[in-house]
Amino acid sequence: MAEFLTDVKTLRERARQEIDKGPITVAYGADLPRVIQVCNEALATEIVCTLRYKRHYYTATGIHAESVAAEFLEHAQEEQQHADWLAERIVQLGGEPDYNPDTLATRAHAEYDQSTDLVEMIKEDLVAERVAIASYTEIAQWLGDGDPTTRRLFERILAQEEEHADDLRSLLERLPADLNRGG
Ligand SMILES: [Fe+2]
Ligand SMILES: [Fe+2]
Repeated sequence: MAEFLTDVKTLRERARQEIDKGPITVAYGADLPRVIQVCNEALATEIVCTLRYKRHYYTATGIHAESVAAEFLEHAQEEQQHADWLAERIVQLGGEPDYNPDTLATRAHAEYDQSTDLVEMIKEDLVAERVAIASYTEIAQWLGDGDPTTRRLFERILAQEEEHADDLRSLLERLPADLNRGG
């Protein structure tokens, strides 16, 4: 078995240094300021996604609106949870979560949408989920072993975004063809 550990004496000495950094030790292997920035971009994405799903939930109308709106609401609540997890991680890393509404939309990866048509809403949500899936996949790969906790957080969120995208695709497939015009 390969020897991987720094000796106990050195580990204990290092742990006493820079205690103001909390969980960040010399073993931290990622670019910390960049990780905080990436987490803040994901936080902005999650907030914009929460707002978009809320907008869709409250404005969904038509004969099929009820079941679709229930899905929008569930997704809104999960995006809010993702935002909270990210803010919590940013603080653990010694950063500050950026909730500035002036720059939220430009910092987010996914877009807001104010469609009034039910099918358009679902399609825009599916596109936003696919944006999040692609960017979180890249972020998780980029983090690699440098920051396994942040990587696992992105993987956990990613799994839910994939469920969201699948839910939306199923909704599009279940809606009658006359509603689902143009594909
Ligand atoms: Fe999310
Ligand atoms: Fe999502």
